[in-house]
Amino acid sequence: MPDAYILGIESSCDETAAAIVRSGEQVVSNVVASQIATHQPYGGVVPELASREHLRAIVPVVRQALAEANQTYDTVDAIAVTQGPGLAGALLVGISYAKALAFALDKPLIAVNHLEGHIHAVLLEERQKGDHELQFPVLALVVSGGHTHLYLAAQNKDGWTYENIGHTRDDAAGEAFDKVAKLLGLGYPGGPIIDRLAPYGDPGAVKFLPAQIKHRDRRDQHGKDHRGQRGMEMDHPRFDFSYSGIKTAVLRYVEVHDMRSSIEIRRKALLNISKLKPEDYLGNCDRQTLDLIASFQRAIVEDLVGKTLAAARAYEVATLFVTGGVAANDELRKTFERDGAQEGMPVYFPSRPLSTDNAAMIAAAAYPKFLAKDFAAMDFSAEASLRLC
Ligand code: KG4
Ligand code: ZN
Repeated sequence: MPDAYILGIESSCDETAAAIVRSGEQVVSNVVASQIATHQPYGGVVPELASREHLRAIVPVVRQALAEANQTYDTVDAIAVTQGPGLAGALLVGISYAKALAFALDKPLIAVNHLEGHIHAVLLEERQKGDHELQFPVLALVVSGGHTHLYLAAQNKDGWTYENIGHTRDDAAGEAFDKVAKLLGLGYPGGPIIDRLAPYGDPGAVKFLPAQIKHRDRRDQHGKDHRGQRGMEMDHPRFDFSYSGIKTAVLRYVEVHDMRSSIEIRRKALLNISKLKPEDYLGNCDRQTLDLIASFQRAIVEDLVGKTLAAARAYEVATLFVTGGVAANDELRKTFERDGAQEGMPVYFPSRPLSTDNAAMIAAAAYPKFLAKDFAAMDFSAEASLRLC
């Protein structure tokens, strides 16, 4: 089989990205244009601004990805694009452009699920390192701003299949990071800021109750769900997450400890700094805030690692993947590595640039579809709530 060069395009949220990946195993170029500066003053992603920024960036980003890979529009073998999940208007920019390219160049078009992309970021980099000996079954935790999902991933002759065995009942882990950072006047995106500040606080200072990160079980004592149907939990246990309670607990802590005015001072001080550096955040946080941040991060990390390893045991998996934006978190990586090693469970992460949104993962996930000739029709559209199953 000759090499296939796939152009990947990703525009599901606040990053416009394009990449060239060779045969699902080598990142030839990987360009990401971040919109952080656009959304920062609003403390979160503003969908209309995201679409506008994607429109501005898409052509130069794709051109740069081609140039860095010494490829042209004519030499690539296929065009892959994120179909969903994500912001509908943002997705449409990438999809319209990918369709136009595929039509004009008469190349195959491949629609990729963003969550599948995150899983393939791990596979891509393992192949790139020459590690082709992956042990199955694989359990993948996709933990990002929109998702906290556990998938059993399997490979067959036509490609990959996924079974969801857990998801968040409310906020995703990354969303909790972002909301807590905003609440503490630290701005957006919260995950990387909290990651950097947490080592300066005492993770044992604030106790979060297990009930605050436990989802409300919708089953009664007879094992029936709210529709009265008997569940399959005996054969297929589920491992769901919930992070809206801990966000409320942080809010209560802020109110009970009268932290509002100091948060407002910090928010304004940080807004006045044009190019924020890590020491700017640290210099504007008191001990109480740092302790709260460290305790919050510890609680989330312990819950993610504890539930994922419990799921790995229950399903007797051989390998664990941890991927998505939150997988860039230092404490999460270290805790997974430590606790995974104790249980003899190999844990794989993407490198940090491929943990957060990028298009190399989209081009990599497209490769098995390219081989299977699983091409998209020209009338496919964005699916904001696309599921992976
Ligand atoms: O995968 P991603 O780039 O976009 C989505 O698919 O959502 O993930 C973005 C999320 C944001 O919530 C961001 O705060 C979080 O990942 N994130 C982190 C870190 N870097 C990004 N969370 C914790 N620690 C980090 N270092
Ligand atoms: Zn993502």
